[in-house]
Amino acid sequence: MADSQIYLASTTAPVNIAVIKYWGKRDPKFNLPTNSSLSVTLAQSDLRTHTTASCSASYKTSDSLLLNGQDQDVSGARTQACFRELRSLRQKLEDSDSSVPKISTLPLKIVSENNFPTAAGLASSAAGFAALVRAIANLYELKEDPTDLSRIARQGSGSACRSLFGGYVGWQKGEQQDGSDSFAYQVAPASHWPQMRALILVVSAAKKGVSSTTGMQTTVATSSLFPSRANETVPRRMKEMEKAVQEKDFETFGKVTMMDSNSFHATCLDTYPPIFYLNDVSRAAIKVVESINAAAGKIIAAYTFDAGPNAVIYYLEENEKEVAGLFKAAIGEKDGWGVERGQKLDANSAAYESVAKEAQVAVDLLKEGVSRVILTGVGEGPIKTEEHLIDAKGEPVKKA
Ligand code: ADP
Ligand code: DP6
Repeated sequence: MADSQIYLASTTAPVNIAVIKYWGKRDPKFNLPTNSSLSVTLAQSDLRTHTTASCSASYKTSDSLLLNGQDQDVSGARTQACFRELRSLRQKLEDSDSSVPKISTLPLKIVSENNFPTAAGLASSAAGFAALVRAIANLYELKEDPTDLSRIARQGSGSACRSLFGGYVGWQKGEQQDGSDSFAYQVAPASHWPQMRALILVVSAAKKGVSSTTGMQTTVATSSLFPSRANETVPRRMKEMEKAVQEKDFETFGKVTMMDSNSFHATCLDTYPPIFYLNDVSRAAIKVVESINAAAGKIIAAYTFDAGPNAVIYYLEENEKEVAGLFKAAIGEKDGWGVERGQKLDANSAAYESVAKEAQVAVDLLKEGVSRVILTGVGEGPIKTEEHLIDAKGEPVKKA
């Protein structure tokens, strides 16, 4: 019954949030960036994609992807590029060893679940494409390492290449036209600096206005600030950031993180027509972070924003009360504080009074505009799992 055999493999993969932003493509076909970038991989206990890849001669349909119960279109060039490259690696394996089952041409059935909102500026595409590539590589028993796989995931979504690794991850832009030297690498594992925490203020869980793909192409075409960012500012900051991570120097890490987020959003404003990802609530989060740092007399909190209004605030565990605790004192009624770490948070009320006095308008805006919070921290890369979302008959597993 070899014909009806169902081949299966599963993985989970993390979200990553950049501290040096990728913004701009030098080649849209291979999805090659105009500048290098660097991110922190976030813990999968809080945010993760779970993907099962399977293939079988018994599958009646062509390649398919079910995401959170909804059929997705897999005919797009990006998904097709990932399928094509992974199939070609499997084909090589089959050609080199006749005992390896010939499965590279069988229809693929993929089932995936994100445990957080999709397309809401929470980097679902990064976790999603990293999981897709890792799951199919597991299915095909490929020997390629995460760096090799990052070159493939990059073609699904640029930021996805960084989600193949845990900890602190760089993506070197590379110089080659074919993208062979544009891949992700680990700057340091999560265990090197495990105290890094992230508080996410979910400002809008709605779909975003201008997609990253469209936005960055318009920026490259029209912004006069952009060339200096790509050619001078980012190369310098990549070095500063790698050093800050190696030396666990939060003040530099935080300052460069905030400055790079500001620089990226400045090029968005300098795009024609302008792109606004930040809103009043985002700016309120910036104001509160500034007040926290002013009260501490040094940088203990750092904000960063992707292509949307949600704030990600990095801080160290030792400052949990001063940073997350203070936000909890301001917006403790929101969903998300209920996790174990959040329950223990108890802001120093004198510190809160002082920040609230200085940033009263900002605190009021946060109360109005934040829908929920997510407390998380630095975490590991993709993890293989035997928990499959497709059963032995090749059907999606029904949720209880
Ligand atoms: P986000 O801000 O969440 O990254 P994008 O609009 O950039 O939003 O990306 C969302 C797209 O990423 C989805 O429409 C889908 O194509 C892809 N995606 C998200 N999650 C997954 C997943 N688990 N598996 C495959 N693709 C995914
Ligand atoms: C602002 O990786 O979503 O989050 O390659 O077109 O899919 P595509 O873009 P995407 O862009 C991410 C942009 C960013 C910054 C970052 O993650 O580095």
